[in-house]
Amino acid sequence: MNDTHATLSGTTKLLHIIIALGMISLLAVGIIMSEFEIFALYDLHKSFGAIIFVLALVRVLWRVKKGWPSAVGAMNKAQHTIAKAIHWILIISTVLYPLSGLMMSIGGGHGLSLFGLELITETLDAAGETVALNGAVGGLGHEIHGLITYFVIAAIVLHIVGALKHHLIDKDETITRMFSLK
Ligand code: HEM
Ligand code: HEM
Repeated sequence: MNDTHATLSGTTKLLHIIIALGMISLLAVGIIMSEFEIFALYDLHKSFGAIIFVLALVRVLWRVKKGWPSAVGAMNKAQHTIAKAIHWILIISTVLYPLSGLMMSIGGGHGLSLFGLELITETLDAAGETVALNGAVGGLGHEIHGLITYFVIAAIVLHIVGALKHHLIDKDETITRMFSLK
């Protein structure tokens, strides 16, 4: 099914809700686990993050194939530009976050496991210590993963405030079109 002015396809709605909930949860878990050094959460964070990466790539392909949904509510040019810019920032962040996480983990020599199933082995030296596979890639991933956090949180907050404004003040179909079960 295609996205139309009146309804959005099941693919658009399903990918939006799964990725949105995944991103919000991973942001919270990421901040908490690194702030309080809860290492037991790292594998879960990485595993769910890797799944979000695959879903985010599917969504990018979906958008490339179908384009963006047309705006349903009445917006002036500035509001339209801001909403569009935030959609771009958000969709890029859904790829950049997990990509930088994978760069940090794999480049740093920590490998990658999916819920305990080892997909890429950790690189260890003779003494059994982790050694970087590619320190530059690992370091860049770490920088990106940490630096974009509050920028992305701000974009998500603006996005949600904008959606609520459509619903509560403009009283248009923007939210119901995205979240309807039909
Ligand atoms: C849970 C709170 C959220 C609400 C209430 C919400 C609401 C909406 C609504 C109503 C639309 C449709 C806008 C339109 O018709 O032009 C939309 C689109 C979009 N949202 Fe969200 N959103 C939420 C969270 C997120 C999060 C966390 C992300 C990504 C990090 C995200 C990314 C997007 C993107 C990229 C679009 C453009 C359409 C698409 O590609 O699916 N949203 N959102
Ligand atoms: C998919 C979306 C993801 C989001 C939204 C996310 C978000 C976050 C956030 C907010 C932090 C805390 C950053 C800080 O305070 O410095 C964090 C830490 C971390 N993330 Fe992610 N992450 C995602 C995916 C991944 C993936 C796929 C991996 C690896 C495979 C990963 C590995 C890590 C690691 C190792 C840390 C701890 C870094 C440290 O202790 O300095 N993340 N993540």
